[in-house]
Amino acid sequence: MRVLGIETSCDETGIAIFDDQHGILSHQLYSQVKLHADYGGVVPELASRDHVRKTIPLIQAALKDAGLDKDDIDGIAYTAGPGLVGALLVGATIGRSLAMAWGKPAVAVHHMEGHLLAPMLEENAPAFPFVALLVSGGHSMLVRVDGIGRYQVLGESIDDAAGEAFDKTAKLMGLDYPGGPLLSRLAEQGTPGRFIFPRPMTDRPGLDMSFSGLKTFAANTIAAEGSDEQTRADIAHAFQAAVVDTLAIKCRRALKETGLKRLVVAGGVSANRYLRAQLAEMMQDLGGEVFYPRTEYCTDNGAMIAYAGMQRLKAGVFEPLEVKAVPRWPLDTLDPA
Ligand code: KG4
Ligand code: ZN
Repeated sequence: MRVLGIETSCDETGIAIFDDQHGILSHQLYSQVKLHADYGGVVPELASRDHVRKTIPLIQAALKDAGLDKDDIDGIAYTAGPGLVGALLVGATIGRSLAMAWGKPAVAVHHMEGHLLAPMLEENAPAFPFVALLVSGGHSMLVRVDGIGRYQVLGESIDDAAGEAFDKTAKLMGLDYPGGPLLSRLAEQGTPGRFIFPRPMTDRPGLDMSFSGLKTFAANTIAAEGSDEQTRADIAHAFQAAVVDTLAIKCRRALKETGLKRLVVAGGVSANRYLRAQLAEMMQDLGGEVFYPRTEYCTDNGAMIAYAGMQRLKAGVFEPLEVKAVPRWPLDTLDPA
């Protein structure tokens, strides 16, 4: 069985073909980063228009790359939410319409379920149940995962997502959009311990998180200390250490509360090297194991959508003839497959 996956929820057009015997047969990605860079953030209308330009050519490229014809595809999975509604509508409309024209089923995929299942594409895939830390530009959450569609949200950010906090702080420090990876690189030159940022919401019970205060803390530190090159690197280091430490404390707590030993980390921020190093150390200490997607599947991509869609199609779930786009869609309202 082969599924074509279409991801257009934000600023990346991702197309992939997943085969349940042979894995990913083709994976195409077009990033709109350059388009939005001048504005310092994603401009929704520009994002939608660019998805219109890129989606169909990338589907053609994926089929060609995999040496397949439309008749070799058994179903189409598209991201239906959460995300920017205009951007979602492009992928949803193309996915739903192609499926109708080709006489194949279409399935609407939850973007965060895609991220959550991305480590399943690796050779060393985690077994259920596990705790997932999802950290992207739009969401930060801890989820207990007992199977496909069996998700219990244990905690989430009450304000900015972790990636959003990285991007906003990076912007304050004069780094280009999206600043997360650049800030993380700058942090590697920083002096540990010169500045200490707070670890928000770790001194009280619970698994919710908050990251917007750290951005303000960074702004105040820059105002007080100036922004010569070394000071900026030291601030970046302190910011990153605070975010990562906070995430690690919450993960440790979630594992303790659930009694689970497997941790999955996914979403754009899971590409962060410092986060990976800290969590590896923590999991060794706890005698557990941590799983990640490969770097290219940490950020938005079509492969995770094709994979998640395949699981739904196999369970006999597909959409009626309507275009489904859900900008706000709680993860724990999905049905088990
Ligand atoms: O999952 P993703 O591609 O998109 C959403 O679903 O939001 O995540 C993008 C986010 C951005 O905020 C980006 O700055 C952040 O992930 N990110 C990073 C790193 N790589 C990507 N943040 C910190 N360190 C990184 N290495
Ligand atoms: Zn994402």
